[in-house]
Amino acid sequence: MTKKLEKARRYEKKYSKEINEERPNFHLTPYVGWMNDPNGFSRYKGEYHLFYQYHPYDTNWGPMHWGHAVSKDLLHWEYLPVALSGDKPYDKDGVFSGSAIELEDGRHLLMYTGVKEKQLKKAKYPQIRQMQCVAIGDGIEYEKYENNPVIDETKLPKGASKVDFRDPKIIKTKEGTYLSYMGSRDEQDSGQILVYESKNALDWKFKSVLIKNNGRLGTMWECPDVFELDGYDVLLASPQDVTANQFEGLCGNVPLAAVGHIDKATQTMHDEVFQVADYGMDFYAHQTVLAEDGRRIMIGWMQNWDSCSNRMPKQKWYGQMSLPRELHIKDGQLQQSPIKELENYRTNKVKVDNYILNGKDEKIDGISGRIIDATFRIPISDNEKFTKFEIKFAANEEKSRYCSIVYRRNENQLTLDRLYSGTQRALMHQRSCSLENDAEELKLRLILDKYSAELFINDGKKVMSMSFYTEQEADNIYFTSDADVALTVEKYDFKRLESESVQF
Ligand code: FRU
Repeated sequence: MTKKLEKARRYEKKYSKEINEERPNFHLTPYVGWMNDPNGFSRYKGEYHLFYQYHPYDTNWGPMHWGHAVSKDLLHWEYLPVALSGDKPYDKDGVFSGSAIELEDGRHLLMYTGVKEKQLKKAKYPQIRQMQCVAIGDGIEYEKYENNPVIDETKLPKGASKVDFRDPKIIKTKEGTYLSYMGSRDEQDSGQILVYESKNALDWKFKSVLIKNNGRLGTMWECPDVFELDGYDVLLASPQDVTANQFEGLCGNVPLAAVGHIDKATQTMHDEVFQVADYGMDFYAHQTVLAEDGRRIMIGWMQNWDSCSNRMPKQKWYGQMSLPRELHIKDGQLQQSPIKELENYRTNKVKVDNYILNGKDEKIDGISGRIIDATFRIPISDNEKFTKFEIKFAANEEKSRYCSIVYRRNENQLTLDRLYSGTQRALMHQRSCSLENDAEELKLRLILDKYSAELFINDGKKVMSMSFYTEQEADNIYFTSDADVALTVEKYDFKRLESESVQF
């Protein structure tokens, strides 16, 4: 083991003990320090492995490592020692995002982006080079391949950036060969996804450009994932620098799901329809795994690059993963629901039927809590006269602290808001999405953990996620409507899982 990796392992083991108290109940946080993208989400030897972009020594982004955790149910996590550090000349400035797969011979292969700075003659500053590398192991220890990098700048198609070339997603084809999809930037500074092929996952050659952004959504596209689902081919990607006119009023780093078809012979995508994978403030770099029972499960980094200064004072960790979500496509539209295993940990059911609400900040008996699974059903047929409906949650008695969901009937728009969560930072605190017009009911499933809200709208046709750091005592829920509305609520608390998760 290299000194760099050994040092990181000693460090995380020592300092992780200090933060156990503060962890969310069932969302994965870094062993210590900082976490961003999910990496290497895979099933291996009967367990789910989830790696992540990791800077153990600080709660801010820094030289990237691959943190590592395993789980049997995607809710209880056991930390494993950090798997990769930037300890080779070709990845000395960081081991960036990537994926994992089990090889024929039973070994686990990680494919990641190595980053190194290169001083070019006459250039004032060093230039970044990104290249694809491989490490092979047994689920705990990984050895970097002796012929790394396996894909470097010499294998780039014409015009592709040598600087922005990253995040390989490796898959195995039905014919037994391998494909790898990578984020790239073309000569117009616009994103594209490159495809490479290999017989042994070690020797790669360029195959095709899967899709070109052509200026439709932002600039560079990061973190691709590609899979078949319900008769469609889906490309997940994470475009940077999106402007609000391009993507349903969302800007910045926006998680994309392109649903269409891929010509398998040429590896090109067509008929793609762009959908927002999550309308909330915090969801990015999403990646999937295929469960043993065939479910396609997605997880994302439940943060956003532009809002990382929203945090608790003295917080000893930063960054968390979203809930794992089951994916489906219905009528061409991506739908998500929290993994069904979550239901095993629900307790204290409270059901309230047709509660007639008409007032400001009303409480409903039994409907409160900060680590909950609550479904609200709000009738919105023509008989209903209200125009605005609001749920404040994670609220204290004085209402100096709360987050909210606001439904504006005339605009048919839903807004998630954390402005009053106690944040001291002036950044994006609110996002909205439009709903379909023909529904008779608005169904909202809200899953709260200590520092997050995930809202599944109308059976997951749309999802909004955000992190927030309000004091845990703020656990009230208040309802407001400007005319009578018959509300139905089903609410559960969650059993405490954080103490059952294993520290290595
Ligand atoms: C996405 C990303 C990836 C990169 C990683 C670096 O959030 O920018 O493209 O591999 O983060 O930590």
